[in-house]
Amino acid sequence: MATPHQTASRTDRPAGTRLLVQLTDCHIRADGGFTYDGIDTRESLQEVMALMQARHGLPDAVALTGDLSDDGSQAAYAWLRRCLTTLAVPAYCIPGNHDDAEMLRAVLPGDNVHVTDWAELGGWQLVLLSSAVAGREGGSLGRGGQDTLSGLLRFAGHAPTLVLLHHPPVPVGSPWLDTMCLDDAEAFFEVIDRHPNVRAVVFGHIHQIYDETREHARLLGTPSTCAQFTPKTERHVKDLQTAGYRWFLLRADGDWETGIERLP
Ligand SMILES: [Fe+2]
Repeated sequence: MATPHQTASRTDRPAGTRLLVQLTDCHIRADGGFTYDGIDTRESLQEVMALMQARHGLPDAVALTGDLSDDGSQAAYAWLRRCLTTLAVPAYCIPGNHDDAEMLRAVLPGDNVHVTDWAELGGWQLVLLSSAVAGREGGSLGRGGQDTLSGLLRFAGHAPTLVLLHHPPVPVGSPWLDTMCLDDAEAFFEVIDRHPNVRAVVFGHIHQIYDETREHARLLGTPSTCAQFTPKTERHVKDLQTAGYRWFLLRADGDWETGIERLP
């Protein structure tokens, strides 16, 4: 069973467990001085990555769940790639609505950086879905993505599994964000509901914490590595909470914990 609380940092993780860190909504631009709601996105990502290493040491893998770039530029992905290669642990990248998925796939992969729909981590399966649709803020898996999800979950068998994507498959209570969720969430959950080994659906996009449970799966949203959005607002309101990341401690027996760390 998941432990529904957040714990403090752990550099002392038990043998046989794996630490996965989710970094999301980095919004890097070609312009090195770009700020999002007054936050320098490059500086903020570097501070979050430094916090991650201070609190946890090196994780076993990181997953970046979309809006890695704000402008979809070659230069933004090249800069991000340099950041991720310095970590030297597997980094799994999926696109969000601000990304240029083609450019992302052209620039990021190589060395320890992967753009893939599946990964394995200490007996856990990670299913990494692209919900980005060119020219749209909202997301969709489409028939192809739904088939990929079904196929990968069939392949996972009974292995404990995390499903990661950019767009939330549920409304989060902010009308301006809720117009740009996953538009084929019904079909998505039809598949998820058939697979009790899916421990959590993990997403970005909302720049805030979300933590609810639906059937057997936790639904988890995560702060951005740069600017935060105030929960439950009619329109975009900057939140003064600091940038952060989500960690997952995954045990081989399927037990797990998750929590958030933020910059001071
Ligand atoms: Fe974003």
